[in-house]
Amino acid sequence: MTQTELEGAVSEILIERDALSARVAELGAEISADYEGRELLLIGVLKGAVFFMADLMRHVRVPCEIDFMAISSYGAATDSSGVVRILKDLEINIRDRHVLVVEDVIDSGLTLSYLIRNLGAREPASLEICALLTKPGRREIDVPVRYVGFEIENRFVIGYGLDFAERYRNLPYVGVLNEGLTSQPA
Ligand code: IMP
Ligand code: MG
Repeated sequence: MTQTELEGAVSEILIERDALSARVAELGAEISADYEGRELLLIGVLKGAVFFMADLMRHVRVPCEIDFMAISSYGAATDSSGVVRILKDLEINIRDRHVLVVEDVIDSGLTLSYLIRNLGAREPASLEICALLTKPGRREIDVPVRYVGFEIENRFVIGYGLDFAERYRNLPYVGVLNEGLTSQPA
């Protein structure tokens, strides 16, 4: 895929690279203040949150560990099937730990509401959510999100970890997917 093809997937840049890094730094500072004196376990939701989480963690000033979960509620298309399953579970036991779930985007809320129920049953000391993006207009289930990077409108976005049919995660900004591409996923 050439640079032109990559850029052609985006109809509009929604959040520029600089705005992303500035907001991620702010979130890191806020989290560091809130968790002062505690140890944090960041749980990244694969795969989209990896990019955000890596940047966020570099701004966290309390001792922290990371682990990952993979959950699937989507096929290659842009709509939720409503089916949630665990593809990869945690390696770390979260009982009595301060857990912060890091997600790329909250859309319907189905994925995170399932995840929070599942993790809550493992009795962590605390359990909060940090999402880079949220689309409040698409919410089907209410999810208590403690930290939000940006609220966005109901549009399908790619870049900075977010994919369309597994592609475009490597774009350095968040952009709106070119409508012409949704009808023909790779
Ligand atoms: P939810 O269960 O509907 O909240 O969906 C959350 C998941 O859907 C996210 O973790 C993403 O993987 C995916 N998703 C939702 N909206 C977008 C988008 O605009 N771009 C890329 N992935 C998205
Ligand atoms: Mg995801």
